Amino acid sequence: MIKSTKSVGIIGTGSFVPEKVLTNNDLEKLVDTSDEWIRKRTGISERHVLDEDVPNYTMGIEAAKRALEDAGVEPEEIDLIIVSTETPDYMSPSMACIIQGAIGAVNAAAFDINAACTGFIYSLSVAQQFIANGVYKHALVIGCEGLSKIVDWKDRNTCILFGDASGAVVLGVVDEGYGILDLFLGSNGAEGMKITIPNLYISEEEKKKRPNGKFNSLWMDGKEVFKFAVKAMSTATMHVLDNLNLDISELDFIFPHQANTRIIDGAIKKLGITDDKIHYIINKYGNISSASIPVAMDEAQRKGKLKKGDNMLLVAFGGGLTWGSMAIKWNK
Ligand code: UT7
Repeated sequence: MIKSTKSVGIIGTGSFVPEKVLTNNDLEKLVDTSDEWIRKRTGISERHVLDEDVPNYTMGIEAAKRALEDAGVEPEEIDLIIVSTETPDYMSPSMACIIQGAIGAVNAAAFDINAACTGFIYSLSVAQQFIANGVYKHALVIGCEGLSKIVDWKDRNTCILFGDASGAVVLGVVDEGYGILDLFLGSNGAEGMKITIPNLYISEEEKKKRPNGKFNSLWMDGKEVFKFAVKAMSTATMHVLDNLNLDISELDFIFPHQANTRIIDGAIKKLGITDDKIHYIINKYGNISSASIPVAMDEAQRKGKLKKGDNMLLVAFGGGLTWGSMAIKWNK
């Protein structure tokens, strides 16, 4: 259990998904694939992508504005901005600084975190500490990912999986007993080369994995990641539930990272959870990395699916390798 002086929770949510849609049928024209294969093996029907000349941070700006509006918090009241991203437009300035400037959060400290698809949980965990300890009052945590820019559109193993989107939340002090109850973060760098996106350096071995010559594209050992994902999601879930002495049946909602419906279904089957506790977005957005949890959460909230007092669980896995979970008593 987290021993903190203040209870910290989500007081506003927002998201942004670009308009342009790329269907499975569109992909059939790019690579040797089929709508049937993609839907059966991944659960994805379409994904949204930004135009090539539009920077990824534009999605984060929009999601942030919507979260601030939902929270009723002014940009000047934000003390901290953390952006989770593995697709930053610039190495410097950080996406968090760019967004800070755009929304006028003049009093905020801002930085990025890269824990791949687990990054939103990592970022929430860091922001939570600052508020719980009384250092800051409000934090903006954003997952912002434009994976269409780092996909090799000639590689059918990966290009069918990913999309672009951003989700944001505002964190603040909430009533005692509500908000973030517990969290767990895991990493295993020894297995890290199972998902790679080279940046300033690429080894000969990594070059060979990219025969089309797009050296900054995402490569992964899909089968191995699949196995790791199902296991990581269930161990991370049980970690926080055991800490809190909470039975799985007491969870009202689960927000898993959505990379493949078969991964989610494998994990929930293992845990004995029914799929009516999940707000699925993967069919229409694909894998949007660390934006998947906040986008799903924002949509579920706006559709009126979440109610005050709900026990919810966030759980994710991804490159690094990383994994993590967080239990929240919903306070909105
Ligand atoms: O967010 C975290 C990172 N990513 C993930 O979590 C993804 C984890 N992995 C997966 O979701 C799955 O492993 C994939 C969706 C990537 C692949 O599904 P799979 O059921 O593991 O397929 P596979 O890699 O075993 O491939 C089966 C066959 C292969 O053909 P052969 O060798 O059996 O003749 C592939 O070449 O399917 C072929 N294949 C395709 N066929 C049509 C691979 N991609 C495609 C495609 N369309 N797009």
